[in-house]
Amino acid sequence: MTALKLVGASAHKLWGGRFAGESAPALDALNRSIGVDFRLWPFDVRLSKAWAIALWSAGVVTVEESLALEHGLDAVAARLRAGAQPVASDEDVHTLIDRLLHEEIGDVASRLHTGRSRNDQVATATRLWSMDACAELDGTVRDLQHVMLAHAESLAHANVLMPAYTHMQRAQPVSAAHWMLSHFWPLDRDRARLAASGRAAAVLPLGSGAVAGCAFPISRVLLQGSLGFAQLSPNSIDAVSDRDFVAELLFTLSMLAIHLSRLAEDLILYGTSEFGFVQFGDSFTTGSSMMPQKRNPDALELARGSGGRLLGDLTSLLATLKGLPSGYNKDLQDDKRALFDAVDTTLLVLPGVAGALGEITFRPERMKAALSSSMMATDLADYLVTKGASFRDAHAAVGALVRQSEVSGIELHALPLKTFTSAHASFGPDVFDALSAANSVERREAEGGTGPEAVRAQILSARKTLL
Ligand code: ARG
Repeated sequence: MTALKLVGASAHKLWGGRFAGESAPALDALNRSIGVDFRLWPFDVRLSKAWAIALWSAGVVTVEESLALEHGLDAVAARLRAGAQPVASDEDVHTLIDRLLHEEIGDVASRLHTGRSRNDQVATATRLWSMDACAELDGTVRDLQHVMLAHAESLAHANVLMPAYTHMQRAQPVSAAHWMLSHFWPLDRDRARLAASGRAAAVLPLGSGAVAGCAFPISRVLLQGSLGFAQLSPNSIDAVSDRDFVAELLFTLSMLAIHLSRLAEDLILYGTSEFGFVQFGDSFTTGSSMMPQKRNPDALELARGSGGRLLGDLTSLLATLKGLPSGYNKDLQDDKRALFDAVDTTLLVLPGVAGALGEITFRPERMKAALSSSMMATDLADYLVTKGASFRDAHAAVGALVRQSEVSGIELHALPLKTFTSAHASFGPDVFDALSAANSVERREAEGGTGPEAVRAQILSARKTLL
């Protein structure tokens, strides 16, 4: 949010009657959360309007009062939408809205806080905000998945092959589309976790009061329906202290950030001159102030780096929650700092990654050049197995061949046939087919493998997840 306008004003407080003196400025400074929670205002207004109706249906306020509260809250929302800013004495967003409501409709505003507490109020507003955030995050993850899918489709179409690595060592040839999709499915799981985080948030605490529940006959079921919650919290003590939904969303985002860091790292590595599998574009890279030749993949590096920040948000919340007694405690005010930072960061990072990935060009010739025939060693062993050898014998024979190739500096495919036959009697002239990367890839058609049909099926099911 923009900087708070710190103009002096006599404090509008939701408490204070039992105090003889003013609170210390140092406490006010520490206690004030408006700088963080200001953004909750649309949700606080929404739940407050629902509460005004609930108070009317419980017979606590008249229909006129309820309507005045609703219209007043609309006017407050209009002022905030138009840019009204908090003043220094606004402790938090709830106090701010209460002050503005008093300015709009006078004394009747004081009726709104009947039967509710900021404890159930802030839990409700934070849940509403999180439900919204989950939906927005889902859309942004999908945008990135669309970019991946488009790349996978064209790579598959062009039959581009590349090495797959284990232990960062060349392992086996795969289709480049298969590699691209290996980054798609983690995001699909992230989306499932986002949906679950959204469901975890969709439990209504409003009507729990400060801790013991509400003494007025308000209908929590009506509140639930009008605010779009899936369930009612079953216990008021739990309802005001429960921040599991924040922790779940923070874990979801940490996992997502970890997935993005892995994608970013693959791309950064593949974009080095040493690999050269991909070429970065212009819009998501930067130059160097000193070295004119540089093109730096900043967006990807920032994405990789943000994983640390997200993990920090998750651990900071968990550390805050650990050891707290039941009921609301002010420590909980810090939940929003972590939550908002994590969501903001993710919403910055995802479009950066989608943009950087979208403008990447693949270099099939460089990928192909990295496919050495020793990567087909497993295929050679499989070849012997189809000729009747046990896999153990085959593994030993191929191991010996690889050693010879390494010692002589001659690639496997360039070794003479007699070298093969002396390693194992079952080798025949068709052995060289087994050393082709294309054949190796084509043989792997079991579901989830890199064979062309399997990848086509994978692309179809990936596409279905985005419908
Ligand atoms: N600003 C507070 C928070 O974010 C609202 C709840 C305050 N409750 C209280 N009893 N002081 O948690």
